[in-house]
Amino acid sequence: MSSQEIPEENLPVEQDTAHGAVSGADDPFADPGLPAHKPRIQDIDERAARRSERAVALMFTLSMVSTIAFIASFVVFPVDKIVFIWPFGHVSALNFSLGVTLGLALFFIGAGAVHWARTLMSDVERAAERHPIEAEPEVKAQVLADFAAGAEESGFGRRKLIRNTMFGALALVPLSGVVLLRDLGPMPEKKLRSTMWGKGKQLINMNTMEPLRPEDIVVGSLTFAMPEGLEEDAHDFQTQMGKAALMIVRIEPDDIKNKREREWAHEGIVAFSKICTHVGCPISLYEQQTHHVLCPCHQSTFDLSDGARVIFGPAGHPLPQLRIGVNTEGNLEALGDFEEPVGAAFWERG
Ligand code: FES
Repeated sequence: MSSQEIPEENLPVEQDTAHGAVSGADDPFADPGLPAHKPRIQDIDERAARRSERAVALMFTLSMVSTIAFIASFVVFPVDKIVFIWPFGHVSALNFSLGVTLGLALFFIGAGAVHWARTLMSDVERAAERHPIEAEPEVKAQVLADFAAGAEESGFGRRKLIRNTMFGALALVPLSGVVLLRDLGPMPEKKLRSTMWGKGKQLINMNTMEPLRPEDIVVGSLTFAMPEGLEEDAHDFQTQMGKAALMIVRIEPDDIKNKREREWAHEGIVAFSKICTHVGCPISLYEQQTHHVLCPCHQSTFDLSDGARVIFGPAGHPLPQLRIGVNTEGNLEALGDFEEPVGAAFWERG
């Protein structure tokens, strides 16, 4: 529509001078003021304003659709699906879809807001005089009046289609973040509280990979063991070893001071977790006269003849003991799992 077709009463009053200008004959740098306001087509033609309103609503609606597509991507595309997309080449269908849909959802919110501001909100520039930081009461009242006028001019209350679709788009976008929580991985459940040890699992010598027999363990020696069935090429080998690794020593039964330790031993052979209860280093230094073991990381020292009690250093808990016995083949076996969690900070987590 040209300006000739616009009803005369809709045309704005022409302004001959720039508003806000301050002039003074003796001021060589007079403030030129702001340029005269030029009305946009939407200011004078309600049909153009309606078109802009629909365009803004369309963009907010597209944002909502994109967010829904983002969520649907998690359901539709398997994690390992690879597709060829020019010019990117072979990409993960899930990652590509998530990136595109989330990008579009955010883009359309931004584009809708910009189009709304450029075509429908007031574009009259106003010059504010500098004034003391503490505003006069009448200035505050003016600010409130300007705010109310701005809210009215933006059409926020009047243009319900825009307002409602914008609320919808803004409400849906955070759902993308909620869906991403799925990628944090499975819950640990009871995995942190248990190890591979269980009733009947044989103790395997970590040097020979053969089942340990009581006669293999002599007084004064230190032997490391792992559970039967744990393969070195298993994908979770390190994880399982980090929880199940054992130190085996033989102590004269009369030298064992702790009653429970004596009952859980087999003929003086005791099995303790090799994982330090300070921050989880593997313990490997054994002093055969005192039955003390020393963690090389921060020098925590445990007395293996007294329930692996901490006698020095920062560790806060004794090493967990594994109850052991001998099976019908004469091999050492576990009689259950550890009764306490092995390792370090897990103690504090409960
Ligand atoms: S990890 Fe053993 S003392 Fe710190």
